[in-house]
Amino acid sequence: MQPIKGFSKLSKAGKIEWITNQFFKDPEAAYELLSHYWHSDEQVQKLHDEFIENTVTNFYMPYGVSPNFLLNDRLYTIPMVIEESSVVAAASKSAAFWLGRGGFKAHVVSTKKIGQVHFIWHGDAEKLHAYMPELRALLLAGTEEITANMRKRGGGIVDIQLVNKTDQEPGYYQLHATFETRDAMGANFINSNLEEFARILRRSLEQDARFTPEEQEVTIVMCILSNYTPECLVHCEVSCPVDQLADGDDYTNEEFVEKFTRAIRIANIEPYRATTHNKGIMNGIDSVVLATGNDFRAVEACAHTYAARDGQYRSLTNVEVKDGIFRFWIEVPLALGTVGGLTTLHPMVKFSHELLGQPNAEELMMITAAVGLAQNFAAVKSLVTTGIQKGHMKMHLLNILNQLEAGEMEKERAKTYFSDKVVSFQAVAEFLKKLRGEPAVQILPGKKQG
Ligand code: MEV
Repeated sequence: MQPIKGFSKLSKAGKIEWITNQFFKDPEAAYELLSHYWHSDEQVQKLHDEFIENTVTNFYMPYGVSPNFLLNDRLYTIPMVIEESSVVAAASKSAAFWLGRGGFKAHVVSTKKIGQVHFIWHGDAEKLHAYMPELRALLLAGTEEITANMRKRGGGIVDIQLVNKTDQEPGYYQLHATFETRDAMGANFINSNLEEFARILRRSLEQDARFTPEEQEVTIVMCILSNYTPECLVHCEVSCPVDQLADGDDYTNEEFVEKFTRAIRIANIEPYRATTHNKGIMNGIDSVVLATGNDFRAVEACAHTYAARDGQYRSLTNVEVKDGIFRFWIEVPLALGTVGGLTTLHPMVKFSHELLGQPNAEELMMITAAVGLAQNFAAVKSLVTTGIQKGHMKMHLLNILNQLEAGEMEKERAKTYFSDKVVSFQAVAEFLKKLRGEPAVQILPGKKQG
């Protein structure tokens, strides 16, 4: 096959025609499938088409809701976009558990974001440092137009520092800037300021006779926000007397505390476990981030860097038992926005924000952290008591039944049959075979019955 030239210039129909003819045995069926996922409202489809380049169709993800989240004494029903079967159920179970125990309490620790101009400069480092107050004033004055609106909203440039990294890379310096972007995620705002900083830096040095000809030259490497935002931090916690924990389950309060706190300690000392532990937290966090039109890749990258901030990758949650009170909390950086980006464009994102009562960015940070904490509580609780597979495979049963093309009656019969049995693909396949009166044979996942 030859590479295609000018693919992005083709019409949508042209792109589809090329893909379906190039890669599919049955191009018509492939076309049918793509068109099946187009939105019936042309305007909505156009919106989707224009979000990215080369859109050929839409990719659906389930949009679920988790009700009864009591957070800072207010009840929320939280939208969650996720494909994994048990995540919404786990969050909801946790929300119900904490509803009767005071709910989630959260506060935003700080909301600062970082951007850097990375540049190469050779000269007298002390001279450059001494020039910094003057340069800082020039940078602030030169970006006044870009920051005007943000300053009206209480945000803007908080600080600009010169960082000398020449001990690690020849001539490598940074302008390390701190921003407050209020309810915007702020990526465009930060990047526009940084690019202007770079222009001002270059211009001001090349015109300044206090610097030697070599010092008047700056090589800008790049200007970009950092997705590591340890100072855009939210804290969320739950707590209750230890004697309210077991809740009539199969273990005592004390047994639960021992099992649960040990699991959190393990996630703090063992990176293999910490990664899975934090993945569970991100199941909750990402699903809200997606539903509210935020950048889940940025949030993911940041959370994991934060989890490794002391040099070892650790749990994002922690637990403490003191004076008979069980306290479980998360502290996580979440750079979220409630204005700009998809929040004003994507109809379902708008729906999510209305469902949440039009939160501002700080409120959304707290809501999202609560879901992460809830998710982790549910996961660790199951892991150290019943095991994860019981709940997980119950939710997965429906996926297996759909894969095996079960009818509604068959699904109902399977749900009853597996209510007290271990669910596996093979077991469900055997069950359906028997139900359909066919001889039981080995069926492999992913293969349809012939
Ligand atoms: C599965 O998506 C998430 C869990 O593995 C999280 C955990 O182990 O804590 C259940």
